[in-house]
Amino acid sequence: MTQAALLKRIAQVKHPVATVAVTSGKGGVGKTTIAIAISKFLSDRGFKVCLIDGDLGLANVDIMLGLSADKNLYHIAKGEAPLEDVLVKVKEGFWVLPGGSGIRELLSMDHEMRKRIALELLKLDGMVDYVVADTAAGISDEVLMFCVSCQDVLVVVTPEPTSLTDAYALIKSLYKEYALKEFFVVANMVEGEEGTSVFRYLEAVVGRFIPEVKIKNLGSIKRSSAVTSLIREQSVEGVDKLKGVFSPLIDRIADGNIFTRGSMGLSRLVMGFLRFRGATAGSG
Ligand SMILES: Nc1ncnc2c1ncn2[C@@H]1O[C@H](COP(=O)(O)OP(=O)(O)OP(=O)(O)O)[C@@H](O)[C@H]1O
Ligand SMILES: [Mg+2]
Repeated sequence: MTQAALLKRIAQVKHPVATVAVTSGKGGVGKTTIAIAISKFLSDRGFKVCLIDGDLGLANVDIMLGLSADKNLYHIAKGEAPLEDVLVKVKEGFWVLPGGSGIRELLSMDHEMRKRIALELLKLDGMVDYVVADTAAGISDEVLMFCVSCQDVLVVVTPEPTSLTDAYALIKSLYKEYALKEFFVVANMVEGEEGTSVFRYLEAVVGRFIPEVKIKNLGSIKRSSAVTSLIREQSVEGVDKLKGVFSPLIDRIADGNIFTRGSMGLSRLVMGFLRFRGATAGSG
């Protein structure tokens, strides 16, 4: 497809969709759990959701949900399979786009690979209301690419000091390098009322050093054994056990129209993949 034909195709995207990158500075803070829970519970409320496993190279959404996925993003990137052959329908209104584990080539995708993914993602137009991208931790190119390509970024933190300093480093990179100025924050694995103080701490640091940036509190999730057992159950039914833990967050998202849901959602996602120029991204 020529560049002009591609841009025309992107301009034809017309359905409103919210695109959210679930990310963090530090690893193991609960991104994948939260991305799965948000996707599953929004789909239970009648929204159509595609969860992209964007933890490229170390993807594990499919494992956590007990899905048997024989194809993944890599097959799309290589032009070996179309989106419809790779998407796994988990339940009514909930699809997973598996990420591909152990494939280092996904960590340094060239322009052609990103273009193929972008083109296939256009097929989500009219199919879904939300695209949720579970990213890796840190400030690598592929993490930043998902954050820049989504309309909203949800940063997961825990009360651990290193999680907070790493979250600040991530926010600072996204502001300085890509001018992102708004972030949602969820405090995970909190005890008692700790969630509020965790948010206030991050807000104070951001306010002091990068006052142009605004962070918004989406609430907190308690440390709970129900969450830990999800990884053992490895099934979508297992996610239902987290309903109590997650319902305040889901209520806020679903009832408050929290995430930007506009016709630009999918175009921005696709353009983000096409235009991303990271430190190690391929040329083109
Ligand atoms: N609220 C919680 N209470 C108890 N355990 C939790 C909670 N949230 C996540 N966990 C546990 O923490 C571990 C890490 O969770 P998860 O894999 O979702 O994090 P992650 O941020 O995606 O990690 P990675 O950076 O490796 O991708 C898992 O064992 C998970 O069950
Ligand atoms: Mg993860």
